[in-house]
Amino acid sequence: MNELAEHIKKEAAGLDPIESLTLLSDIFHGEIIFSTSFGWEDQVITHMIFTNNLPIKIFTLETGRLFPETYYVWNRTMEIYGKPIHAYYPQHELLEQMVNAKGPNSFYESVDNRKECCGIRKIEPLKRALAGNKCWITGIRAEQSANRQHMENVEWDEQNQLVKFHPIYNWTLDEVKEYIKKYNIPYNTLHDRGFPSIGCAPCTRAVQSGEDFRAGRWWWEDQSKKECGLHEVKAS
Ligand code: ADX
Ligand code: SF4
Repeated sequence: MNELAEHIKKEAAGLDPIESLTLLSDIFHGEIIFSTSFGWEDQVITHMIFTNNLPIKIFTLETGRLFPETYYVWNRTMEIYGKPIHAYYPQHELLEQMVNAKGPNSFYESVDNRKECCGIRKIEPLKRALAGNKCWITGIRAEQSANRQHMENVEWDEQNQLVKFHPIYNWTLDEVKEYIKKYNIPYNTLHDRGFPSIGCAPCTRAVQSGEDFRAGRWWWEDQSKKECGLHEVKAS
């Protein structure tokens, strides 16, 4: 692990999520950013940041293909907390080129097409969002997938050259739900309808009980290919 990430890991050891977010917002003042897709993990962290007035910019990648329920919870969150959430959009030339050449749903046709769409709608805007920052906060939890169990709550992101921090990495889903309930935090109602993980509407379906958390994401693809490239997957 990189030296800076190592140092942060030591500093944050034993702190709870709010304490560690406070510490990191001090250390990386003005260069720390949190990405939200408005899933309930993200809503917990948004609540912590907004109610503690932490100087951490919150942003979302607006792919243009989100669920109506996601737009609703985004809007509610802005109303309730009265604070900004910054949207990053795809570059329209790239999007027009892809859709004009391949149609609006090319992602179902091949993994390459799907990665091209995620590249244009998520990865390129993510690079712009992260530019100039030294710390990136996410709502990732270990329990979410086999890949994520091999991660750590503090990591060095080689691709983006910054420290990545997952404040509720060790929380269980029950802990997330309890926190949401306790503080009456707005959440995406799709979670109540079998969607543990929510991405773009055409690429997310509900899961059956007993199925993996991420089984509903890009469900038509092989298990091994199911990451969009936002989060680097390390070989385990
Ligand atoms: S993904 O890689 O499969 O898309 P996932 O939906 O599990 O990611 O979300 C994990 C974390 O990635 C979220 O907690 C959030 O920090 C970030 N994230 C995912 N999608 C978006 C998005 N559209 N905008 C901003 N952040 C996102
Ligand atoms: Fe495109 Fe689907 Fe990726 Fe969203 S999740 S960017 S619609 S391929």
